[in-house]
Amino acid sequence: MTLDRINSAYEYLHRTTEQRPTLCVVLGSGLGDYADTLEGAQVIDYRDIPGFPQSTTPGHAGRLVLGKKHGVSLACMQGRFHCYEGYTPAETVIPLRALIRLGIKRLLITNAAGGINESFQPGDIMIITDHINFASLNPLAGPNLDEFGPRFPDMSFAYDKELVAALKEAAREHGIDVKMGVYAMMKGPSFETPAEIRALRVLGADAVGMSSVPEIIAAAHAGVKSAALSCITNMAAGILNQPLTHEEVMETGRVAAGRIRTLIDGFIERIAE
Ligand code: HPA
Repeated sequence: MTLDRINSAYEYLHRTTEQRPTLCVVLGSGLGDYADTLEGAQVIDYRDIPGFPQSTTPGHAGRLVLGKKHGVSLACMQGRFHCYEGYTPAETVIPLRALIRLGIKRLLITNAAGGINESFQPGDIMIITDHINFASLNPLAGPNLDEFGPRFPDMSFAYDKELVAALKEAAREHGIDVKMGVYAMMKGPSFETPAEIRALRVLGADAVGMSSVPEIIAAAHAGVKSAALSCITNMAAGILNQPLTHEEVMETGRVAAGRIRTLIDGFIERIAE
């Protein structure tokens, strides 16, 4: 049962570290090395944490890095679990919910996404202002976990205004150009068709990806304030006359990684009390 798994993960973390992080940073593919800059870093492999989903890809188990930045106690997730890997939506948020039990109050998510808005370019960074859950996957389906939040949580303020403002200000301070827009989640793992991308554009999406929405929903459920950034790694299907590849996504991610690290750091500096 999900609750038992969340609790065993929480209990393990509670006895394995004295750190009590208040901010969780989810580092998307190619962005994991931000965690190397934490002070007093303590690294825990996901595979050592009972209750965590276990990665099926050898060598990609994922790691939790706990430490401090600008006086803020952080839990950085290097690697996340996706529904397209076969995990249920509820399983993908076990790590986040274990960290919420440990005391997380805020969440910063990063991901890779395809650009739907034609004014975007690969390498752009988009601050997510809202999302559309086209995957229709919801981690709250099933019995409600009352200890986390209500049966029917409000999603009107899922992307916290103050945290979004902190990201914008950090971007301005460091001279990093950022776009703002709506993120559409598709289940994947196949990329979208050109017709799907045209439909998503008409429906108000600026970027498309295969992650993050379950975490944002689980955070909103528990009253955890969230903000999220997409690295626009490619133009979505059909916009350019070329096929999409995972290699392109990874390569553009590497190009933008430095700016995203600076942005994460500026954000943490701003929200530090
Ligand atoms: N579609 C879905 N997910 C993605 C894309 C895309 O074009 N690029 C990076 N993640």
